[in-house]
Formats: sequence, structure tokens, C-alpha cells
Amino acid sequence: MNERDEIPWAELRRLAREATSRSYAPYSHVRVGAAALSDAGAIVVGSNVENASYGLTLCAECSLVSDLIRHGGGRLVALSVVAGDGEPIAPCGRCRQVLFEHGGAALVIDQGDGEPLTLADLLPRAFGPDDLPTRSTP
Ligand code: THU
Repeated sequence: MNERDEIPWAELRRLAREATSRSYAPYSHVRVGAAALSDAGAIVVGSNVENASYGLTLCAECSLVSDLIRHGGGRLVALSVVAGDGEPIAPCGRCRQVLFEHGGAALVIDQGDGEPLTLADLLPRAFGPDDLPTRSTP
């Protein structure tokens, strides 16, 4: 994957919508699906997984990051997150931080009809791995 490659937004949105059908959301009934392209050319997906202890809920973006690591890692390049109605939603605050670790400021995020935003737009002046004095090998 390099910068001249086209981002397959339609495919990412389709896979994110499909992932909403594999969500576990018996409490909020808000089904969320996410799909992203990595710099290795892999497409990774995630769905939200709720918990009876509500605060332990895993957002779709967290599941997606697990899928990224399971696929051998790499950097997230482009991301689509949709709710059950198929429309894009903005990642929650916690997920913005989780995504920053694996995509950084340049990660591009689907906005539906609007121009995609970067994670820098959604999480300006982020705290990240470079702010730590030492960093162990992933
Ligand atoms: N949710 C996500 O999966 N991602 C977000 O960025 C926002 C919220 C989920 C968590 C919960 O299962 C449901 O949406 C309602 O908050």
C-alpha cells in the first residue's frame, strides 16, 4: 500500500455494514461495525461486543485492532465505522486513542458524503507512543 493507491471506501463501508450483523449488543441494541485497510494491504474488521457490566463493552474499533494484530499487525491507513442503519459514525473518544496507537495522525476516517477526516482532525495534539521515554518492542 502506498499513498498513490486508491482507498477502497465502498468495500470498507460494505464490510463495516456486514460486521454490524455480527455485533453482540443485547443491552444498547446499537450494532456497530468497522472495517479498515492496513499498510500491508490487509482488510481487518470488528464489531462491538457488549457486556453485562456495561463499562466493559468493547467497541467495534477495539475488535478491529485485535483483528489487525491477529493478521500480523501493521499500520491502519483508512477506516470506516458504521452503525446498524449503515451510516458512518464517529469513533468514540476512547477508540480515537486506541486507533492512534495503530494508525497515527494520518489515519483517514470515512465521513460518508463528506470528505474523509484524519485522526489528527478527531484527536488533535494526541498523546502517543512517542511521548513515552522508552518503548519496548511490540
Ligand atoms: N460503540 C462502538 O462500537 N464504537 C464507537 O465508537 C461508539 C460506540 C458501541 C459501544 C456500545 O456497544 C454501543 O455502541 C452503544 O454505545
